[in-house]
Amino acid sequence: MLWYSVPRPAISAGRLRAAWTTTNHRSCAVKKILLFILLALVLFGLPFIAYTAEDYVGAQKCKVCHMKIFKSWEQTPHAKAFEALKPNAAVEAKQKAGLDPQKDYTQDATCVGCHTTGAPDRPGVQCEACHGAGKQYSSATIMNRTRWKAEPEKQCAMAVEAGLVRVPTEEHCTACHNEKSPTYKPFDFKARYPDVKHPE
Ligand code: HEC
Ligand code: HEC
Ligand code: HEC
Ligand code: HEC
Repeated sequence: MLWYSVPRPAISAGRLRAAWTTTNHRSCAVKKILLFILLALVLFGLPFIAYTAEDYVGAQKCKVCHMKIFKSWEQTPHAKAFEALKPNAAVEAKQKAGLDPQKDYTQDATCVGCHTTGAPDRPGVQCEACHGAGKQYSSATIMNRTRWKAEPEKQCAMAVEAGLVRVPTEEHCTACHNEKSPTYKPFDFKARYPDVKHPE
C-alpha cells in the first residue's frame, strides 16, 4: 500500500490522445488494438492507469543498461530533490517560502510526493517520474538490446504497451511543477524542457 499519494499527471482525454499520437508514435508503430484500448480508456475514464508503489523499480535498475544517462541525471537538481527536505538544507528557499529550515520534512506526507518517485525508498525525481513506472517495460524481454536492434518497432511498441513514456509531456511535469509546491515558480514547459533532455 502507498502511504501517500503519488502525483499523477492530470491528462484530459484530448491531450492524452494528442500526446499519444505525436510522441509515442514518433518512430514506433503501435498496433491498432492498442489505440482501441486507449480510446476505451478515454471513453470510460482513466482510473486504472494509476500506478502503485510496486510498479516502480527505481533508477538503480535503469542504471544497469543506461549508464551514461544515469550518470548525467545523477548530477541534476531532480536527482538531488530529496536532499532539500532535510534539516538545514536549502535554508534560503525554505525561509522565502515560510517553511522551517530546521525542521525535518523527509517523512512529511505533504512534501515527499513531489520529492521522491513513488515511494520513500526512491528519493528524488527519478527516471520513472518522467518515463512511467518501469516494472513491466524494463524487463529483459522488452528492453533487450539484441531484440531491439533486430526489431526496433516491435520492441518499442511492446515497451509503450507496458507503460513506457518515451517523450514526457507538459502534464508529466506539472504533476509536480504546480501551485501546490510551497516554493512554486511559474513553470514554462517550452523553456524548461531542454534542461531535462539527456546530453548526447
Ligand atoms: C535490461 C536492460 C534495460 C533496462 C533494465 C532498462 N532499459 Fe531502457 N532500454 C534498453 C535498451 C536496450 C533500449 C533500446 C534503445 C537503446 O539501445 O538505448 C532501451 C530504450 C529505452 C528508452 C527509449 C525508447 C525509444 O527508443 O524511444 C527509454 C526512454 C528507456 N529505455 C528508459 C528506461 C527506464 C526509465 C528504465 C528503468 C525504469 C529502463 N529503461 C530500464 C535497455 C534497458
Ligand atoms: C525530468 C524528466 C526526465 C527524467 C527524470 C529522466 N528523463 Fe529520460 N528523457 C526525458 C526527455 C525529455 C527525453 C527526450 C525525449 C525526446 O524528446 O525524444 C528523454 C529521453 C530518454 C531516452 C531516449 C534516449 C535519449 O537520450 O533521448 C532514454 C533511454 C532515457 N530518457 C532514459 C532515462 C533514464 C535511464 C533516466 C534516469 C536515470 C531518465 N531518463 C530520467 C526526460 C527525463
Ligand atoms: C516528481 C515531481 C517532478 C516531476 C515529474 C518533474 N519535476 Fe522538475 N523538479 C521537481 C523538484 C522537486 C525540483 C527541485 C529540485 C531541487 O532543487 O531540489 C525540480 C526542479 C526542476 C528544474 C531545475 C530547477 C528549476 O526550477 O529551474 C527544472 C529545469 C525542472 N525541474 C524541469 C522539469 C521538467 C521539464 C519536467 C517534465 C519533463 C519536470 N521537471 C518534472 C519535481 C519534479
Ligand atoms: C506539488 C509538488 C511539490 C510539493 C507538494 C512540495 N514540493 Fe518542494 N518543490 C517542488 C518543485 C517543482 C520545486 C522546484 C521549484 C518550484 O517550486 O517550482 C520544489 C523545490 C523545493 C525547494 C527548493 C530546493 C532548492 O534546492 O532550492 C525546497 C526547499 C522544497 N521544495 C521543500 C519542500 C517542502 C519542505 C515541502 C513540504 C512542506 C515541499 N517542498 C512540497 C515540488 C513540490
